[in-house]
Amino acid sequence: MPVKKRIPFVAFRTRVRDETVEGPNPYRWEVKTTQDYFSGKRVVVFSLPGAFTPTCSTQQLPDFERLYGEFQKLGIESVYCLSVNDAFVMNAWGKALGVEKVTLIPDGSGEFTRKMGMLVAKDNLGFGMRSWRYAAVVNDGLVEQWFEEGGLSDNCESDPYWVSSPQNILETMKSLDTASASFTVPIRF
Ligand code: BEZ
Repeated sequence: MPVKKRIPFVAFRTRVRDETVEGPNPYRWEVKTTQDYFSGKRVVVFSLPGAFTPTCSTQQLPDFERLYGEFQKLGIESVYCLSVNDAFVMNAWGKALGVEKVTLIPDGSGEFTRKMGMLVAKDNLGFGMRSWRYAAVVNDGLVEQWFEEGGLSDNCESDPYWVSSPQNILETMKSLDTASASFTVPIRF
């Protein structure tokens, strides 16, 4: 059986609501690590080029939110949406879309994305370094299944999107023996 890749250790700077904070913006910083998010549970994480961008906002994130229950039926305890955006942007995006089930993770510095081998330049769009689109089923920090859009490259002129869609992931998970299945795919991190 192939060795499964382990999710890298990273600390994320999140902003959480705290009613004890005075003023019109009752939020405080909270550091959450990959251990907090991935230890002892089976989750789906998907990563995309940017909050508020068209495909991410009209298809990918809303579809993961809508299909959250289908993932739960397959034993997935959490669904994480990650982007190289700061906590303020990620929170505002989740609020704008009314996201309640999917957890948004701000990888503002791109450290997690870089360690996953998925950091690409999007200077052609004025974005700087961002995440290539990918998703993974992760069990207790180990990558079980990997869903990467083809053509990973810097300054890509197109934005392929299907492999990392919730529809494709659900279809793939259902077609496998979800209790024990894993398959070998190129993972570069
Ligand atoms: C989109 O989600 O449609 C998108 C993402 C990155 C760059 C441009 C568009």
